[in-house]
Amino acid sequence: MKMSSEASSLTKKKKQGLGWIESIKGWSCVFHEFLFQRFTASHLQNPLPLPSLNHLTCIVTGSTSGIGRETARQLAEAGAHVVMAVRNTKAAHELIQQWQKDWSGKGLPLNLEAMELDLLSLDSVVRFCNVWNVRLSPLHVLINNAGIFAMGVYKPRRICRQQACTETRISVVCLSPGIVLTNVARDLPRYVQVQYALIPYFIFSPQEGCRSTLFSATDSQIPEHCEMLKTNDKPICTFISQNCKHTKPSEEAHNIETANRVWEKTMELIGLPLDALEKLIEGQEVQCRYGTHQE
Ligand SMILES: NC(=O)c1ccc[n+]([C@@H]2O[C@H](COP(=O)([O-])OP(=O)(O)OC[C@H]3O[C@@H](n4cnc5c(N)ncnc54)[C@H](OP(=O)(O)O)[C@@H]3O)[C@@H](O)[C@H]2O)c1
Repeated sequence: MKMSSEASSLTKKKKQGLGWIESIKGWSCVFHEFLFQRFTASHLQNPLPLPSLNHLTCIVTGSTSGIGRETARQLAEAGAHVVMAVRNTKAAHELIQQWQKDWSGKGLPLNLEAMELDLLSLDSVVRFCNVWNVRLSPLHVLINNAGIFAMGVYKPRRICRQQACTETRISVVCLSPGIVLTNVARDLPRYVQVQYALIPYFIFSPQEGCRSTLFSATDSQIPEHCEMLKTNDKPICTFISQNCKHTKPSEEAHNIETANRVWEKTMELIGLPLDALEKLIEGQEVQCRYGTHQE
């Protein structure tokens, strides 16, 4: 009994220790990225030139602010049908109006629309999917942009999506936008927000920060690269850094055990059975426990 409690406190200590190491590693990556991002991305044009995207339908989550907002605008200006998946539809409609006005005389009207989606509510996510599915129209690119700044969340996120992409023909790309001046720091301590706004030379503008997203969504070689990675012993998904280059992901991204744990926890949190993916691939219906009631 004593042994087991000692062992558990040791594991706890070890876990706390690992947390610190991870945190230091995370912050040193941020500082490195911050100091050198402008230099490593100096070969990129701003804005990033895009091919004609008339054939694409793209959903961009969180497109009322920052990187998502700039991504949505540029995709639409390149001809894509863009669905702004947002929690504030009024703000999205105002943006659409403004962009149409700025674009008038330059070509066909932009093909943009807003749909309600609050990612903090799984009921809202299911409602969004149901409305989308009724249309039976293809979705070519889903840009999971909406989020908040959270150290250490980046890497596990990469892992859990990978499992889905090895089983399907979907290409999953993880990317870093760089350190970008947006509203992302609004929930961080005040002193971090102040520092954030005081570093204009190093920090990217949203137009610079959305280049890796636009590159990942439109570069013709990305699907090929994703397929190649899926055939490796330890499959990982493509990682595009802020300079639009394929980059080696972190060590944790190769950890299959962690990937499985993150996958299982994710399925539990989103209310789906563990074999949901296999069932969907076989064309079976899968019931989710969310989305059955109005909030
Ligand atoms: N900026 C950076 O330096 C940086 C660096 C690395 C990664 N990122 C990542 O890049 C992504 C975009 O961030 P950003 O810098 O553009 O920040 P931002 O300006 O704060 O934009 C975030 C967007 O996400 C939306 N959003 C937040 N929570 C949501 C929810 N529950 N449901 C639906 N939409 C939600 C926000 O909507 P509202 O306007 O309604 O709040 C906003 O449109 C985030 O995932 C962030 O973690 C940013």
